Amino acid sequence: MTATDFLDRRAGEEEAGPATWGWRGRVARWSGGAIKPRMGGAERAYVQDRAVIQKEFDGPKTIAFVNPKGGAAKTTGVLAAGYTFGTIRGGAVVAWDNNETRGTLGIRGARSAHTQTTKELLADLDRFDDVAQSRIGELGAYVRAQGDAHFDVLASDESANVTGQIHADDFKSVHQLLMRFYKVILVDTGNNMRAENWLAAAEAADLLVVTSTIREDTGYSGLWMLDALQDAGYQNLEYKTVTVLSDPSTTVDAKLAADLVDVYRHRTRSVYRVPYDPALVTGSVLPYGQLSRATQLSWLRACAGMASAL
Ligand SMILES: Nc1ncnc2c1ncn2[C@@H]1O[C@H](COP(=O)(O)OP(=O)(O)O)[C@@H](O)[C@H]1O
Ligand SMILES: [Mg+2]
Repeated sequence: MTATDFLDRRAGEEEAGPATWGWRGRVARWSGGAIKPRMGGAERAYVQDRAVIQKEFDGPKTIAFVNPKGGAAKTTGVLAAGYTFGTIRGGAVVAWDNNETRGTLGIRGARSAHTQTTKELLADLDRFDDVAQSRIGELGAYVRAQGDAHFDVLASDESANVTGQIHADDFKSVHQLLMRFYKVILVDTGNNMRAENWLAAAEAADLLVVTSTIREDTGYSGLWMLDALQDAGYQNLEYKTVTVLSDPSTTVDAKLAADLVDVYRHRTRSVYRVPYDPALVTGSVLPYGQLSRATQLSWLRACAGMASAL
């Protein structure tokens, strides 16, 4: 096999993903730098997406994941984005469950030695009043570190009978605190657009991520929400919003998928598809390390789209 054959064959394997890309460096080393294989399209996109995700923002950024229908992959999306931003940026990322009732982010994120939630943080906010004295380490009593995924989860009230409402002012106080200690704040939301804390999150967000599965009811519900936000006076939604569409099963209706991509492309900045992943099905603690390569690369692309909008 000639050197050209070898290079051609390796270039053909480019699409196989990051694990196969080390060969370029090896060829460059073996040849003493005489041969420097160029990056293929997939590798170039991968490097660029990582760079966009790693960019330094001009302040803390808040991204709210929204769709007033349950099962629209909001919570799943927040965790997948937390994993992607956390690992690629190297921390300073928090995922906050802003459900008005008992949300599932705490159940689906890695457990912690404590079971504190937003409720206890709200009760103890005065601990953080003195800006000069309060430290990020003290937040460790309330958030749950996600290990190798390098982000923290702030769960919602987990008591069986959630009674206390989260008021707009409560949202603002917690948001202010999180903005002191994190660079990226991912907000999971509930299914009630009229809840004070839902509206406060939509207002505070630098970017909205409409999540939906490839289903008519869920897809339409996101569009209905965009209409309602527009009617309520939200400006420039098409610049402040990206869409992530998840496959709810191994096969999806191709016509419905194409229609949803098309309609959301008109209503939001960009649309990203993420595949069905068996690792996400159980609804239990998300095994970050077991996400398929296709899932990881799709979320890399989607998070780069989010970061470039910020
Ligand atoms: N890409 C995916 N592949 C497989 N299952 C998924 C995927 N995305 C979401 N799911 C499943 O859909 C269920 C509902 O999603 P969830 O994120 O809880 O929705 P929401 O927070 O909008 O109510 C989750 O339990 C998860 O098992
Ligand atoms: Mg949810």
